Amino acid sequence: MKTVKRHHLMLMRPGFEAALRDELSSRFGLEGEVVCRAGVALPESASLPAVKATVFARQSLPRALHIASSDINVAAQVVIERIDVMTKRGNRQTGVWTLHAFAIDDDDQLRRAKDIAKLVMQHVRSHQKEFLKRYVSPEDFAKGERVASDILVQIYVPSPTDVWFSAGTVADGASVWEAGFQRMKTLPGAPSRSASKLEEALLRLGVSPSKGQTAVDLGAAPGGWSYVLASHGAHVVAVDHAKLTVKNMSKLKGRIEHLSENGLTYLPSAPVDWMVCDMVMGAKDTLKVLKRWLDAEAMNHFVVNIKLPKANPWPQVLEALDLIGGYGWAQVSGQHLLHDRSEITLLGRKF
Ligand SMILES: C[S@@+](CC[C@H](N)C(=O)[O-])C[C@H]1O[C@@H](n2cnc3c(N)ncnc32)[C@H](O)[C@@H]1O
Repeated sequence: MKTVKRHHLMLMRPGFEAALRDELSSRFGLEGEVVCRAGVALPESASLPAVKATVFARQSLPRALHIASSDINVAAQVVIERIDVMTKRGNRQTGVWTLHAFAIDDDDQLRRAKDIAKLVMQHVRSHQKEFLKRYVSPEDFAKGERVASDILVQIYVPSPTDVWFSAGTVADGASVWEAGFQRMKTLPGAPSRSASKLEEALLRLGVSPSKGQTAVDLGAAPGGWSYVLASHGAHVVAVDHAKLTVKNMSKLKGRIEHLSENGLTYLPSAPVDWMVCDMVMGAKDTLKVLKRWLDAEAMNHFVVNIKLPKANPWPQVLEALDLIGGYGWAQVSGQHLLHDRSEITLLGRKF
């Protein structure tokens, strides 16, 4: 068994390791190294960016230990030793803690992660009674009100021979959800899976359309996003040459108006509360559309999907971030949502 020194480990969707590495270098001046599947490591001395402040990171394991072993007993023993040291040091701590044990899209490694967690919890139950009293389930940890000193213990298994372990606090800026996967409720009756993507985007933005607000949905067919906007109570102009197939249209009380127009050139006659855009086209064209709307001050919120080039996506992401950062809006960001594959979603609220 061999342990190496600690690193901050940041996780992303598999295949986007280089994108996160480029982002960390370009936006945070940090030189990360791709060390495992879906993982970029930063030196422990680096100031770890909050997951929410990045486009591509989904989770972080602050001050993580790399355990190079295929034996789950060896890995569990390392974790147990660290927990024993931590609980000795933290006798006066009052915050709660939880344990996330996971792999990413890999059932075999997920099983190993859960087996390691079982061994660790057996030890905590028999030898760490006080610490056990402060344990909450991952679900309760994510859904409850958290304070900065609450502790997140994480075990990530990226391969048959590697385990990463981290114990950090909420103040380290990790996601409170296991592997960063916030579970989404799916809207019953929504006409396309992409409806969940807009729900996820609204959650990240921290605000949703309210009753009576106005919205334009560019590239609306078959109607998933329009359905979400109208379900929240907005009046939606759905722009697309293709047909909408919203089944529960009558339930939405005529709040969706279909316009067979070109989303590249459409602008509303008066500003609207929401502009969302999911047209299938190159990023440059989508950014041109967004710029026209921003220049015209035609909306107060936006959710815009940007397709990424397969090779070297970072320069395109940076161009998008530069654009949305140039208008003095209260909140703008680019996010690689859980529902995003070769794309990112730009979010903005003006006030
Ligand atoms: C991925 S689909 C949108 C899915 C939609 N957000 C949903 O949730 O159902 C992309 C849509 O963009 C539309 N589109 C592509 N170019 C367009 C343009 N120039 N103007 C309007 N719509 C366009 C296509 O017709 C297609 O329906």
